[in-house]
Amino acid sequence: MWSDNRVLELIGIEVPILQAPMAGSSGAELAIAVSTAGGLGSLPCALLGPERIRAEYGAFRQQTDRPVNLNFFCHATPAPDAAREAGWRARLAAYYAELDLDPDQVPPGGGRVPFDEAGCALVEECRPQVVSFHFGLPEPALVERVKKTGARIIASATTVAEARWLEGRGCDAIIAQGAEAGGHRGLFLTDDVAAQPGTMALVPQVVDAVAVPVIAAGGIADPRGVAAAFMLGAAAVQIGTGYLQCPEALTAPGHRAALAAARDDETVLTNVFTGRPARGLVNRIVREVGPLSAEAPAFPLASAAVGPLRARAEKAGSRDFSPLWAGQAAALGRVMPAGELTRWLGAAAQALLAQGARAR
Ligand SMILES: Cc1cc2nc3c(=O)[nH]c(=O)nc-3n(C[C@H](O)[C@H](O)[C@H](O)COP(=O)(O)O)c2cc1C
Repeated sequence: MWSDNRVLELIGIEVPILQAPMAGSSGAELAIAVSTAGGLGSLPCALLGPERIRAEYGAFRQQTDRPVNLNFFCHATPAPDAAREAGWRARLAAYYAELDLDPDQVPPGGGRVPFDEAGCALVEECRPQVVSFHFGLPEPALVERVKKTGARIIASATTVAEARWLEGRGCDAIIAQGAEAGGHRGLFLTDDVAAQPGTMALVPQVVDAVAVPVIAAGGIADPRGVAAAFMLGAAAVQIGTGYLQCPEALTAPGHRAALAAARDDETVLTNVFTGRPARGLVNRIVREVGPLSAEAPAFPLASAAVGPLRARAEKAGSRDFSPLWAGQAAALGRVMPAGELTRWLGAAAQALLAQGARAR
């Protein structure tokens, strides 16, 4: 039915669409809707502790025994840097004054723990069909333990070199994340964001470089994008931004409003929210402090100082300090139940590919 069925067979799904894990913006409800429709639902674990992960997984399993993906970050934990932190807080001081917040009351930290022993124990307990990683892979012993559970391992590559690296360390499929993608760049062998290839260029080059199947991600939000990814040699797509306006997503109201009004030229890569470059819609803090600030502490430490500004502003109905993650195709997003969206994307892409095949 599809030109490449390897991801369908690898994971045991019917529609080659993976709902991107979106920490803070998606949970069990979205994953259930996508998996039940035949795609792969994902549960982002980067911002959750073990109890919340267990609860999300339990909620998913109560509804369906279909495949699911547990997603983790694999960043190196940075050493605290008091001078950098102080500089960052000084950079934000005027906002603290404006919002009547006391900077001395803000605890340091980052709220994101990389995949570790505890995360691995959870995977061994839950036994999801798929485990995905962003920012590289955990140490080999942990990868081995995940593999032993029977889970398929997938991870994001933003360059051909990263794709080869991931394949060489046991990934069953590679997510080729083009520069158009919303949210954090998955880059881990380079920090040169300016040199990151777009999806159209990256996918076929990764397909040529690795033997495992490739999942295209970044800027795919309608059937044309899904069909194009298959023409480029992908065996599935991973879609994030395209699901953010679904009723089942946890997208905050202000974020939804921004997405509904988004244009093609309104996203940038910014590090002001976490310390790592991520694509989102421009708002006040991005415009005034970023988009890329040399003063931001290393990921994820920059987020501690921004958190209280965000919370206070959101309480007042403002999205001036909120991350409005979105990819370049945000304007193609639809307000549609996620199951319906998944089935429509799959069926309409298949029709386009069949039309193309007849024409050829
Ligand atoms: C709101 C949002 C949050 C994201 N959070 C995560 C995450 O927690 N883990 C992850 O692996 N990728 C995350 N991503 C990146 C996606 O996996 C994927 O690469 C991206 O959504 C694809 O591009 P698109 O948004 O244009 O569809 C996030 C993306 C968005 C838009």
